[in-house]
Amino acid sequence: MSSVKQEVEFASVEIRPMHELDVPVIVAIERAAYQFPWSEGIFRDCLRVGYVCRVADVGGDMAGYGIMSAGAGEAHILNVCIRDEYRGRGLARKVLVYLLDRARASGMYAAFLEVRPSNKAAARLYQSMGFEQVGVRRGYYQATAGREDAAVLRRVLLPEVR
Ligand SMILES: CC(C)(COP(=O)(O)OP(=O)(O)OC[C@H]1O[C@@H](n2cnc3c(N)ncnc32)[C@H](O)[C@@H]1OP(=O)(O)O)[C@@H](O)C(=O)NCCC(=O)NCCS
Repeated sequence: MSSVKQEVEFASVEIRPMHELDVPVIVAIERAAYQFPWSEGIFRDCLRVGYVCRVADVGGDMAGYGIMSAGAGEAHILNVCIRDEYRGRGLARKVLVYLLDRARASGMYAAFLEVRPSNKAAARLYQSMGFEQVGVRRGYYQATAGREDAAVLRRVLLPEVR
């Protein structure tokens, strides 16, 4: 990692709304990150129905994204993904803090999400952000061999989310 890149990154991270024109790049990031990625149509649907869709923009470069739905007092974090070359620098945490702040500001009492127990990086991220496991969805995810359970995590949205 060059020091120039690191400097630019920290100087200019912006969490901005996702636009239709971003979708092809988002889909490329998604395909590189997940074995079973969301389709382009899912991202377009998320935009169409008005979910909170945000991009982590580093000096004009799309570094990742986060998507959340909110309603009936509950926020659901549906996707958080950071491009490989931008990982390990606090960007996912930044995206999550942004989404949780938004959820709390719009009156949500808790945020929920699903995670594969095998996804250690994501599990640690969520744990470090105060999420706790409240359930299991059996066979929720596609897997190389059969299906994989999802751990259901919840974070109560008290005034301070960091
Ligand atoms: C999971 C993911 C979003 C983390 O993004 P990131 O920007 O690298 O994460 P951050 O730098 O903000 O890290 C925040 C915390 O997450 C945890 N974490 C992140 N990467 C980790 C890793 N490789 N191993 C262990 N813990 C990790 C740590 O607790 C870290 O805090 P620390 O730096 O103080 O130790 C990223 O690896 C990713 O996009 N993975 C593919 C998509 C995915 O799995 N999304 C989650 C679906 S539920």
